[in-house]
Amino acid sequence: MRLTAILPFSILLASCASTASTESFNVDQALEYCNTQVHRSLAALGADSTDYTMMPRNIQGTDSAWACRKASPDEWCSGFWPGILWYDFESSRDEIVREEAERYTEALEYLSQRPAFDHDLGFLMFCSYGNAYRLTGCPKFRDIILASADTLATLFNPKVGTILSWPRNVEMLGGHNTIMDNMINLEMLFWASKNGGDKRLYDIALKHAETTMEYHFRPDGTCYHVAVYDPESGKFIKGMTHQGYSDSSTWARGQAWAVYGYTMVFRETQDRRFLDLACKVTDAYLKRLPEDYVPYWDFDDPAIPDAPRDASAAGVVASALLELQAYVTPEKRDEYRDAAVKMLASLSSDEYRSGDKRHSFLDHSTGHKPAGSEIDAAIVYADYYYIEALLRLKKLETNSAVLANL
Ligand code: GLY
Repeated sequence: MRLTAILPFSILLASCASTASTESFNVDQALEYCNTQVHRSLAALGADSTDYTMMPRNIQGTDSAWACRKASPDEWCSGFWPGILWYDFESSRDEIVREEAERYTEALEYLSQRPAFDHDLGFLMFCSYGNAYRLTGCPKFRDIILASADTLATLFNPKVGTILSWPRNVEMLGGHNTIMDNMINLEMLFWASKNGGDKRLYDIALKHAETTMEYHFRPDGTCYHVAVYDPESGKFIKGMTHQGYSDSSTWARGQAWAVYGYTMVFRETQDRRFLDLACKVTDAYLKRLPEDYVPYWDFDDPAIPDAPRDASAAGVVASALLELQAYVTPEKRDEYRDAAVKMLASLSSDEYRSGDKRHSFLDHSTGHKPAGSEIDAAIVYADYYYIEALLRLKKLETNSAVLANL
């Protein structure tokens, strides 16, 4: 969520030589568009008086309004809508949006007082309360994040050296399972360790990142979705997929989580090994993109070019690259910035924007294709990482000294 350092930046749209349409992309207009869509969503959600425990999840088929799900430990997307509202408030300073952000965020408080259901507690609590605390400094929000970080840490298995991502799937997957998505949730542990929480949380996050670096990647820099370990000996058993095309394929959002996750881990540790890996997994991702810089849902689906896209992966990677570019050589910096801008330009085009048709920001994400779920849909986390990326780009354009203080 946070960026710590930036370099002077001007976006050279003219140098973007791809079919991604950058000419019409304007970050201020894109953020205004997000604010318009947020108000359309809030109006629809409040039409029968708002139930703040019902969180937007997706918009499918010909629907225009969000299908909502009850905020709960097993509804992993519940923190994204409050997070979107906080980001929109940060951009627009719209007080109505801030009040709604606070109400939706507070609907999640009870999750900080329960045992961990799975690793998604990080997505749930850090996208919501993390942004809430970053923008308000309210101590109550910090305390809720600290409690959540302690809870997430209970899933760490020191014999393996990672967090157990899905306790419910140990039998089905054949052991202690860790998924690449789990990398994102280390951010809450790093944050807690330096904001009044237990210092051990840093060690857990570091060990998880090291173990994942060792076992979760193929020699070419692509990753498995799931790594399975023996919970007693800690031995790596196998790499496999859950949401991708096959065990040997590269699921686009899994690779996106790796790009974002290792960029964040480098920021938090300043350990060069993680920067090298972040660049390697990024380069593996970039070289497999289609011309408009929005990936097919899995890079190895044989149905390509007739396979669905995943706009959410593009949003995650665009946001990550706008951070990663600050840590690399000038040559790499230009490459990563240009790629991020191309991704955001494509996502902001009529091809991917929901526009008047739906209340979401973006169409064309894919949730869980093997399960037949959320295919070519608007999905709330795509919007979360899109607006996060737009804000990062805006801050780079205006060259603000500190991008965020979380
Ligand atoms: N973390 C689940 C997903 O990316 O679909």
